[in-house]
Amino acid sequence: MKLFTSVHDVTNINALAAEALQLKQNPYGHQHLGENKTLGLVFLNPSLRTRMSTQKAALNLGMNVMVLNMDKEGWALELQDGVVMNGSTVEHIREAAAVLGQYVDIIGVRSFPGLKNREEDYNEEIFNKFVKYCGVPVVSLESATRHPLQSLADLVTITELKTKPRPKVVLTWAPHIKPLPQAVPNSFAEWMCKADVDFTIAHPKGYELSTDFTNGATIIHNQDEALADADFIYVKNWSAFEPYGKILPGNDDWMLTNEKLRVTNDAKVMHCLPVRRNLELSDEILDGPSSIVVHEAGNRVWAAQAVLKQMLESL
Ligand code: CP
Repeated sequence: MKLFTSVHDVTNINALAAEALQLKQNPYGHQHLGENKTLGLVFLNPSLRTRMSTQKAALNLGMNVMVLNMDKEGWALELQDGVVMNGSTVEHIREAAAVLGQYVDIIGVRSFPGLKNREEDYNEEIFNKFVKYCGVPVVSLESATRHPLQSLADLVTITELKTKPRPKVVLTWAPHIKPLPQAVPNSFAEWMCKADVDFTIAHPKGYELSTDFTNGATIIHNQDEALADADFIYVKNWSAFEPYGKILPGNDDWMLTNEKLRVTNDAKVMHCLPVRRNLELSDEILDGPSSIVVHEAGNRVWAAQAVLKQMLESL
């Protein structure tokens, strides 16, 4: 594997999830693969789980890891070609990415959307330019429109904990006070549409995701109806796709509670984290037996390790 930016870079998602679960049983069995190899992690936005789990995965494989918090420690990047750089930008992404590629064998990049211009965000300009100019394999640590390492960890978690061959999985919108990207729900949707699950998306009217990611999903605007008989519930806020990046008024009653879980099949509750308690998800769920959010975050290591292992094998 030379590129991991979406589900489309994976030949067999079930095999990759199975490999992650094998690595969970045997974390240090492939340390030779990463010997004298370096992973560079470039963050243009904050992170706890992605940073720590990907570092841990690389260390388990015997790799060295270097982290650059580019938003705080790097030079201000210019993205446009052919401009006179007499403003605030100091370094062009052409040199920055190419130079980073001289120091490392694999690069991970995190770059969130601006949520102002949909076309710009959905063109993945920063991400694609890193891929184009760095000259080494690239793994997405979350881009403007997708978070594939999170989605793989989510698939690993569902595969590990399911009690029937084809569970019902529901992605349900949750309230928030800030406009959040569509990357996690887009990505979760496109992975679930390819997984062995019955997949439903529940959201208030106005929060439709791009159909590029939801082909094959059942989409419902009544949350109670969507939750009926669910085996896994994935809670996540996202801002509107149209009008782009906006929060629409109302819908505070979409926060998941124990009462709402009563119609489910004893559903396990997932969230990618970080989560705002009692806004997105209630204390009673996060602190109760239904929540698997910490277990899910733990599986980020094995998801990242499976991807890095396949990349190391292709070097
Ligand atoms: N879920 C996730 O990606 O968490 P971080 O933003 O902390 O990495």
